[in-house]
Amino acid sequence: MRKRTGNHYSKENSIGVKAGVPSVQPKPSTRWLWWFKRGILAVCLIYVSVPLMVRLFIKHLVFSHRVRVPFFVDLNQPVELSLNHTVNMYLQSEHGISLGVWHTVPESQWKEAQGKDLEWYQKSLGYGNLIVLYFHGNGGTRAATNRVGLTNVLSNMGYHVLALEYRGFGDSSGEPTEDGLTTDALYLYHWVKARSGNSRVIFWGHSLGTGVATNAAVKLIEQGIVLDGLIIEGAFTNLRQGVTDHPYAWYYRNLPFFEFFFLEPLAEKKLIFSNEENLKRLRSPLMILHSEDDHLVPIAMAQQLYEIAQNSESRVKMSRFDGSHGYRHNGLYKDHHLPDIIREFEQSLNL
Ligand SMILES: *[C@@H]1O[C@H](CO)[C@@H](O)[C@H](O)[C@H]1NC(C)=O
Repeated sequence: MRKRTGNHYSKENSIGVKAGVPSVQPKPSTRWLWWFKRGILAVCLIYVSVPLMVRLFIKHLVFSHRVRVPFFVDLNQPVELSLNHTVNMYLQSEHGISLGVWHTVPESQWKEAQGKDLEWYQKSLGYGNLIVLYFHGNGGTRAATNRVGLTNVLSNMGYHVLALEYRGFGDSSGEPTEDGLTTDALYLYHWVKARSGNSRVIFWGHSLGTGVATNAAVKLIEQGIVLDGLIIEGAFTNLRQGVTDHPYAWYYRNLPFFEFFFLEPLAEKKLIFSNEENLKRLRSPLMILHSEDDHLVPIAMAQQLYEIAQNSESRVKMSRFDGSHGYRHNGLYKDHHLPDIIREFEQSLNL
């Protein structure tokens, strides 16, 4: 190594002397090579360490609950995100597990909602408007832009939205596990049902939240309850397949150790989230929403779910969103036709 460097400099010097400017600085082309070699080395290091990190921290990748994005949002003050008809509350789903929940009432009631207490909000659940329990994806909090955006769309349509912060996420206490998240979702459902009278209650799951929503819907069936309706947005068939088809896994998928580093840790941590198994047992009307340009969950998975659900007892509809809109995994809430699609689904619940 040292010898090569020596050669290096002597070459430099001879060139430098020729040009009449003696110098020990590497000339730009060799400096470029130096960086290039370091760059390659860095890429190799990253390439080798990613599987190790995945194996060690799989839980933190599936539940990115420590990443509290957006930053600097006071979850106690939804009004700061211009949700001025939303109340923040905490529910205890299990001993020692406190869950943050935003309850947004239909937008038509925004004036009336000013300064109202929890009791007013709870009573409003019984006035007949559709109630949507929203289960978000794997990272950040209920304050994320796409989640607030969807809440605005649904509230504008005259619906209630209850956005749940799972255990371990945001301002909720505890540590996330698949069973734990399902328990939290079921708790919220029963809490709402105890207050909702004859209002319909549906689940809306996005991304990882689709797994929570279908897990909970199946658990309800075991309790003898058929949920009024279920909407899944950006859904994967099961977590194993979701990880395999994830764009970051692409570089490793075909290597022999993929199973050991990427898939076994899922099984060890009991992370299954199998929408496909759940949908086989579903009995509620189902709406599948997916963007053709979804970069995290390929639309082929949603198509597969659609076919599975067609063989179940549930009525199923699928809406595909054209890739030209650029909605990808999180942007469906921006679609101008979304309210019509959801309204039609709501009306189909009466059949
Ligand atoms: C409250 O929210 C509603 C619905 O988003 C909006 O129309 C209204 O202008 C807001 N009012 C205030 C005072 O911010």
